[in-house]
Amino acid sequence: MNQTDVLIIGSGVGGLTTAIKIALKRPDTHITVLTKVQKGESNTAYAQGGVAAVWNKQVDNYEKHKADTLDAGGGLCNEAVVDIVVEEGPLRVQDIINWGARFDKAPGEDEYDLGREGGHSENRILHYKDLTGWEIQRALIEKARQLDNITILQHYFAVDLLTQHHLGYNVTRLLPGIECYGAYALNKKSNEIETFLAKITVVATGGAGQVYRNTTNPVIASGDGIAMAYRAKGWIENMEFVQFHPTALFNPAGENPSFLVSEAVRGFGGILKTREGEEFMHKYDKRGSLAPRDIVARAIDNEIKLRGEESMFLDCTHLGKEAFIGHFPTIYEKCMSLGIDPMKDMIPVVPACHYVCGGIRVNQQGRSSIDRLYACGECTCTGLHGANRLASNSLLEAMVFGHRIAEDLVGRLDGLSLQDGIPAWKANGTTEPKEMVLITQSLKELKEVMSSYVGIVRTNERLKRAMDRLWLLYSETEDLYSNTVISPQLCELRNLITIGYLVTRSASMRRESRGLHYNTDFPEHQKFIQPTVL
Ligand code: FAD
Ligand code: SIN
Repeated sequence: MNQTDVLIIGSGVGGLTTAIKIALKRPDTHITVLTKVQKGESNTAYAQGGVAAVWNKQVDNYEKHKADTLDAGGGLCNEAVVDIVVEEGPLRVQDIINWGARFDKAPGEDEYDLGREGGHSENRILHYKDLTGWEIQRALIEKARQLDNITILQHYFAVDLLTQHHLGYNVTRLLPGIECYGAYALNKKSNEIETFLAKITVVATGGAGQVYRNTTNPVIASGDGIAMAYRAKGWIENMEFVQFHPTALFNPAGENPSFLVSEAVRGFGGILKTREGEEFMHKYDKRGSLAPRDIVARAIDNEIKLRGEESMFLDCTHLGKEAFIGHFPTIYEKCMSLGIDPMKDMIPVVPACHYVCGGIRVNQQGRSSIDRLYACGECTCTGLHGANRLASNSLLEAMVFGHRIAEDLVGRLDGLSLQDGIPAWKANGTTEPKEMVLITQSLKELKEVMSSYVGIVRTNERLKRAMDRLWLLYSETEDLYSNTVISPQLCELRNLITIGYLVTRSASMRRESRGLHYNTDFPEHQKFIQPTVL
């Protein structure tokens, strides 16, 4: 039995910002961070474009950043949350600069070089070349290492959250007063499930891009936290809004994750074109290649289907080589490694699943519907993104909410104690899975179902088909789960099936098209704008 004051699940920007903030505010508090692989592997580490924040107040202001966020969000953002994130954002970016994160400055100048991405009316993206996430992850790990009251346990896979259910009570979603007492986690080295008791638990497990065939998300992004919170009977909101990034690099050999060609490349002057070199984006939006993501991804998807092509193209051949390599060294190198010279050839691009706008419903302090359970980062639905996230608002959201969670949580710790009576994990299954193919094949099927039927464009018929097939995958996987020894692969499959269900069910409930959710059977907006809650 492991005991800690605060248990944080996940070591990306959400988890580590929260941990550091709590550790600094309350040096007498012990914080345990569990992370399922090595601590640096996360969606955070892959972020390219940067962090959006109002920095140059001579040309930019909060009202403009708010208006851009609301415009992208398709009428479903929570305006109070937009105000909070935009106004507190610059302070939180300054925090991580103080902790050692570096951002690029304009050559020979003291000011940060602010980039532009789709949907932004001003240059406001702080970045570190095309490796912003890697730099933020590095700085956070280093800062956490300096704080004695943070322990990071790597290769610990959180399996389930502990609630009154584990004390033998019947817990339902409508029951008030559900509490979280910590989590069961698989120690991947010993293969034992350990109990972690905590006064407060924070889920910061990131996104779920692996539910689709093509995704920019690394393999850790299997929606574990959202699925755990749902099983624990927490409220999950707006899962139909899955963001497809318009420009993942098209690699005919296939790769997982798909390599991202940052939106910042379009902000730098890259233009979307057909194979014949024609611009097509102005047919869809007056902002052309820099329209918000939902519009650009749908436009590319449509052009690919109309023309029977495998990809569209990003033309950067008119941009200066030195400046391009200076800003995007990783993208340049990756393209060259595939025989594409961005200075001579157009870069083939396709949309790929990138970000889940929905997630665990939290309030302005990051509290979920379950008491003593907070959530931070991509696994949450704070209300900031609405029906479509504005580029580079995600890292910012996690920093702002990490701070708010710490502020709210530290005051509660003294009044809480660890829960007695939680039993050790009881293994259901005793046999080893005989064939890994049962897991890998189901995962492949799940990704096919979600990509074919619940992708960028949806119909009622497709959603129904998806639900029927998901049901079969669910039953087979639950059987496997109850009969075999638990493994990370099996848990991830189980969690991803839950994500598939939540996305499909929410998409079926929304009888309109809005933001990232486009259903050709309901192409219009409905009059009354509602979140989808499961
Ligand atoms: P993550 O960074 O994904 O961290 C999740 C952590 O939880 C990981 O440590 C993981 O191992 C751990 N974990 C998961 N499940 C378990 C479990 N069961 N048990 C234990 N540990 C677990 N956003 C921007 O704002 N700007 C950008 O430029 C940008 N570029 C992006 C580029 C790419 C290629 C991608 C994929 C995303 C990008 N995003 C960007 C989105 C942004 O990076 C993420 O939304 C954000 O980093 C999520 O942070 P997080 O802390 O919530 O999750
Ligand atoms: C990108 O660099 O294009 C990704 C930015 C984001 O997802 O916010």
